[in-house]
Amino acid sequence: TVYADSELASAAVAGQIAELIRARAAEGQPCVLGLATGSSPTRVYEELVRLHREDGLSFQNVISFNLDEYYPMQPDSLQSYVRFMREYLFDHVDIKPENVHIPDGTVPPEQVAEFCRRYEEQIREAGGIDLQLLGIGRTGHIGFNEPGSGPVSRTRLITLDHVTRTDAASDFYGEENVPRRALTMGVGTILEAQKIVLMAWGEGKAAVVKRMVEGEVSDSVPATYLQRHPAVQVVLDEAAGAEL
Ligand code: GLP
Repeated sequence: TVYADSELASAAVAGQIAELIRARAAEGQPCVLGLATGSSPTRVYEELVRLHREDGLSFQNVISFNLDEYYPMQPDSLQSYVRFMREYLFDHVDIKPENVHIPDGTVPPEQVAEFCRRYEEQIREAGGIDLQLLGIGRTGHIGFNEPGSGPVSRTRLITLDHVTRTDAASDFYGEENVPRRALTMGVGTILEAQKIVLMAWGEGKAAVVKRMVEGEVSDSVPATYLQRHPAVQVVLDEAAGAEL
């Protein structure tokens, strides 16, 4: 779906999420959301906060799993995705703290494999992800699944692509400060979500959006694996959709 601008598009995505949360609540069921960070979803979170404040949208039945986190990373660091999620969403809604899951950038190296195994298990125990939000990196990454990530990859520690580290440089006041690694849900983990909504804004994403939607499915652009999922919605502004 191509919208005139990212504001309209974000409002539509937030409305869809709110509807799902309410439908689940009406059934007495939890709503399991897979959440993304980065600039793409910020307006969606702002709109969800507005719906909470002005429209009585409750997050009491929401269980969330974030896609990724830099490694290593302290949760109170400026660049931490824990901090990002608190600032944009969690501090402003009534989600139960015990229902929030974000890959832990402080896990000691020898415990990373066990942490990742447990993260997958927690997703399964929650009943699987109902709706997964995604952005896309210029390398074609989803989460931090860089080129080379296969379709059955699971939650793990990865090495960031240099393009991704360049793109993150301004957040870290220089590329040399960007962590070399990150924890991310795998492509296989993402593909198990019932529904996936990928958002991309601006001309900088137009080329990778074209490769994702029209290109051959391959691990050189991990987002192309979304072509094999039965319920993916790609939400774009006009600039991001310009090359389709
Ligand atoms: C970041 C995140 C991804 C995100 C992507 C795009 O590195 N790890 O989950 O989707 O890059 O970021 P942005 O939305 O800021 O363009």
